Amino acid sequence: MIALITGGTSGIGLAIAKILNQRQYEIYIVGSREEFSLEEFSNAHYFRCNLADDKEVDRLLEAFKDINIDVFIDNAGFGDIGTFLETSDQKEMQMIDVNIKAMHRTLKFFVNKMYAQGSGRILVTSSLAAFSSSGYMSTYYATKVYSLHLSLGYRRELKDKKSPVTISVLCPGPVATGFEKTANVKFSIKPVSKEKVAKVAVKKLFKGKAIIIPTFKFKFLAFMSHFSSKLLSNYIVSKTARKRRK
Ligand SMILES: NC(=O)c1ccc[n+]([C@@H]2O[C@H](COP(=O)([O-])OP(=O)(O)OC[C@H]3O[C@@H](n4cnc5c(N)ncnc54)[C@H](OP(=O)(O)O)[C@@H]3O)[C@@H](O)[C@H]2O)c1
Repeated sequence: MIALITGGTSGIGLAIAKILNQRQYEIYIVGSREEFSLEEFSNAHYFRCNLADDKEVDRLLEAFKDINIDVFIDNAGFGDIGTFLETSDQKEMQMIDVNIKAMHRTLKFFVNKMYAQGSGRILVTSSLAAFSSSGYMSTYYATKVYSLHLSLGYRRELKDKKSPVTISVLCPGPVATGFEKTANVKFSIKPVSKEKVAKVAVKKLFKGKAIIIPTFKFKFLAFMSHFSSKLLSNYIVSKTARKRRK
């Protein structure tokens, strides 16, 4: 059995890759860093690919055209903090390229492949951010709405076609990973460990659960966002986001 994990070089993706490796999957890890050590894995490969670059994504999809993947973890992504006066256009465009464009292209590609092969499990890492808008991380929050909605849309289409392929969406709140450094943020609540998030994610992925919110605290925050008005949740979330600036 084969699993492909984008953003598998660090954080949540790496923790998921380790669990799948323990379950005897052959692992393909995708990341943009030059080198990645596979020492901790028994049967794994590193595929270097900058997902912000369309041509690199073409190369990735071409490489997997004839390989049947059993589990696809669409997880690579990053954030950034700051007002519209401060944030870099270049970093934001890269964020859109990775969190939306590459996420969309790879997801659609593997949905089609798994639909044709008649089996497969997909996990897309969105975020608790998908349940609200927020100032100070406006672009990041918007990208995560896109991944949640696209995944649930495809999930419905697969169900209507009676396909056994499932898509699950992982929506965690703060997790201790490289995210804080890349996004330049300091979480205002204690982050959960990546191992805990990965454990819940893999368990629920194999149950075919639609939306995976890993802890009670995150479930409560999602519930609050869902039942408050768009403007009220925007006000509350933006207030905490403002404090997250380093
Ligand atoms: N940590 C949180 O609090 C949190 C909460 C909710 C959702 N999430 C989401 O969880 C996912 C994983 O993030 P993380 O928290 O585990 O952070 P992380 O430790 O920084 O990992 C991010 C991963 O994405 C990959 N990536 C980023 N840009 C890339 C690019 N241009 N091309 C290829 N790979 C790229 C990185 O690989 P390279 O470094 O090798 O490029 C890395 O493996 C993201 O989608 C993030 O939005 C995180």
